[in-house]
Amino acid sequence: MSQDKEFFTTFFSIMGGLAVFAIILVIIALNLTSEVSDYKPDEIVIENIKPVGEVYIAGESEPPAGSAVAPAETVAVADSGAAAAPKSGEEVYKSNCMACHATGAAGAPKTGDAAAWAPRIAAGKDSMLANATKGLNAMPPMGLCMSCSQDELQGAIDYMLDQSQ
Ligand code: HEC
Repeated sequence: MSQDKEFFTTFFSIMGGLAVFAIILVIIALNLTSEVSDYKPDEIVIENIKPVGEVYIAGESEPPAGSAVAPAETVAVADSGAAAAPKSGEEVYKSNCMACHATGAAGAPKTGDAAAWAPRIAAGKDSMLANATKGLNAMPPMGLCMSCSQDELQGAIDYMLDQSQ
């Protein structure tokens, strides 16, 4: 009997010691996780794999903070000195229409070629603006100036017509 008693005393003191040890481990583990709970793997991964460059469209989105590139509109404003001024007919023509209309490329009526423009002028300004807006054969919609307003397109047409009378 006394042997049994000795066995149980030793057995329970070892079990008790292990239980205390286990609780200590749990406490240590909880402390460790609380220390790293600020760690947000998603944000860190996204930060590390984000592209080195970003595309922004002048006038439609803001350049990323810290970017050295000035938005095209800012440049245009600096040039013309007027805030958010619509582009002049000449500006639109030079940046969008000249490629085809200065040379007559792809069968475009050439700027200065009165004969090429005469039948189009005869059809009326509205018809020309409509055709320039929606495109006509090799003439791409809006002359590819997708940000151009109707006024700006009309300005570019007037600029060409002024030189093609
Ligand atoms: C890719 C070449 C190209 C570009 C760029 C281009 N055009 Fe044209 N454009 C043409 C061609 C080709 C025609 C003749 C289409 C036809 O009659 O078949 C034409 C015709 C026109 C006409 C006559 C439409 C009519 O009613 O007959 C107008 C107006 C015009 N373009 C305006 C513009 C303006 C404004 C721009 C710039 C914002 C521009 N184009 C840019 C190729 C171009």
